[in-house]
Amino acid sequence: MTATLACRPLAATVGAEVGGLDAGRLARDDAVAGAVMEALEQYGVLVFRGLHLGPEDQVAFARRLGEIDYEPGHHPVRGIYRVTLDKAKNSSADYLKATFEWHMDGCTPLHGEPPQKATVLSAKQVAASGGETEFASTYAAYDLLGDEEKERLGSLHVVHTLEASQRRVHPDPAPEQLERWRKRPSSTHPLVWRRRTGRRSLVVGAHADHVVGMGTGEGRTLLAELLDRTTAPGRVYRHRWSVGDTVIWDNTGVVHRAAPYPPDSPRELLRTTVFGDEPIR
Ligand code: OGA
Ligand code: MN
Repeated sequence: MTATLACRPLAATVGAEVGGLDAGRLARDDAVAGAVMEALEQYGVLVFRGLHLGPEDQVAFARRLGEIDYEPGHHPVRGIYRVTLDKAKNSSADYLKATFEWHMDGCTPLHGEPPQKATVLSAKQVAASGGETEFASTYAAYDLLGDEEKERLGSLHVVHTLEASQRRVHPDPAPEQLERWRKRPSSTHPLVWRRRTGRRSLVVGAHADHVVGMGTGEGRTLLAELLDRTTAPGRVYRHRWSVGDTVIWDNTGVVHRAAPYPPDSPRELLRTTVFGDEPIR
């Protein structure tokens, strides 16, 4: 029943380019959707160059992978969210500056929902320079730890906050801004996520604020060091966008970030988010 995808690895520990598929098959073929989920588990990020997947087809495709987010996304098609720094196109564009730091989506949920399973992004317009999206595997990050570290880190818990990620890009917040960030509840997650598949991954990123039971400074040093190792240059796939590219990532097994681009850049990516169904534990 499952189809086999033609995958060409892009970096040592993350990413593969998928060839031989057109937008229509991706949107309508159940067997292809199953194969995409399998390949995503293996590679973390799948790249479909020049696919020119329309917004409706993108939603149809994502819908085959799971329940999707239909929150209004500043776009006429339900299920599409506009990723742009242009406030005329997305009134909450300011928050998106935090995408310039390594992160996993959904680590500080409003109501404790698990992090999103997968995210689909398609390039409608690209930046003249900058604006690449980078990915690194948090499964590989765990696998590359030493045995003693696996043991020691396996019992730690980390507090994640919206403030931690926003502060990196807005270091001098106005009091009202700070108050808005603090309205978002913090979330405590184990540092090592034991997956129901038996695999393990690190839960790291700019939203990781401090380690429970450890001095703030010491904990932040540890978190920064782990994030650095996770995202060491040899472990990163950097996607340079062309109009019509589609990229999908396993949000539970990678961290990602955007390379900076100017706020007046035409860059516009259309995102569809597939909800997660596995709590971090
Ligand atoms: C996102 C995100 C990165 C980018 O949509 O969650 O982080 O390159 N995007 O725009
Ligand atoms: Mn993101």
